[in-house]
Amino acid sequence: MIDILSPMDVFDSIAEFERTGKRANVSILDPWYNKGLGGTRDDYLSFIEEILIRLCRFSDHVYLWGFPEIVATFLPFIPKTHKLECWLTWYYKNNPSVIRGWRSSQQACLHLRTEDAAMYPQHFLNEVQLEKLREGKLRYMPGPASVLEAALNIGFVGRSEQTGHPAQKPESIYKSLILMATVEGNLVFDPMCGSGTTGAVCKRLGRVAVLGDMNPEYIEITRARLAKVYPDSTSVDDRFDFAIGQ
Ligand SMILES: C[S@@+](CC[C@H](N)C(=O)[O-])C[C@H]1O[C@@H](n2cnc3c(N)ncnc32)[C@H](O)[C@@H]1O
Repeated sequence: MIDILSPMDVFDSIAEFERTGKRANVSILDPWYNKGLGGTRDDYLSFIEEILIRLCRFSDHVYLWGFPEIVATFLPFIPKTHKLECWLTWYYKNNPSVIRGWRSSQQACLHLRTEDAAMYPQHFLNEVQLEKLREGKLRYMPGPASVLEAALNIGFVGRSEQTGHPAQKPESIYKSLILMATVEGNLVFDPMCGSGTTGAVCKRLGRVAVLGDMNPEYIEITRARLAKVYPDSTSVDDRFDFAIGQ
């Protein structure tokens, strides 16, 4: 089930979520980056810090996105309830060059989690490794790489996913985040959902998602996109039934 909220500010959707009294297994925060798209704001750090504090109160896992030089400044603001599990990098090499300098080819994503938040590296095993796991012969659990590689959806690349949102992430990147931190039926909250990538991945994988964005145009894009997304017939969790709840 995917719940798309009417257009509203991030603090209002957080308040809506809080009123349900539920915990989110995962919250994803992918704000404008304080450079280029979305403009800049002087209070960016305290703005993100406030959102982070609120999200951490009800989320087992939080993924926080941005360019590395900006994300680095958030590190001192991680609430004590959560630890930095991993600094993830999304690497893409197909960004057109628009400046005379370093051409952007990565974004960072901080994976924060509480001490007892479940992780599911077994969701990334191949058939051979799974068989070994079943037989008790897997000597160690090989986690996925912390550098996620996927091309930017631009031009002819990722045509079928493209919605026209200017900062849309590839579904394959969000799929890794969701698979690492959830099982079927778990709850994911994204209060700055943009084009609804979180919702598309959650719908395919059978997760529940609550999505918000302040821009009515992007909420419409999200609605139209999700209407055309169908649950995977063999979601990864169907294959890995035995792993659920471990
Ligand atoms: C980087 S984009 C998210 C892209 C998204 N992850 C995707 O794959 O499509 C950031 C989004 O945050 C939204 N946003 C910015 N400020 C907001 C605020 N104060 N409250 C709610 N949404 C906001 C913007 O409208 C924009 O769609």
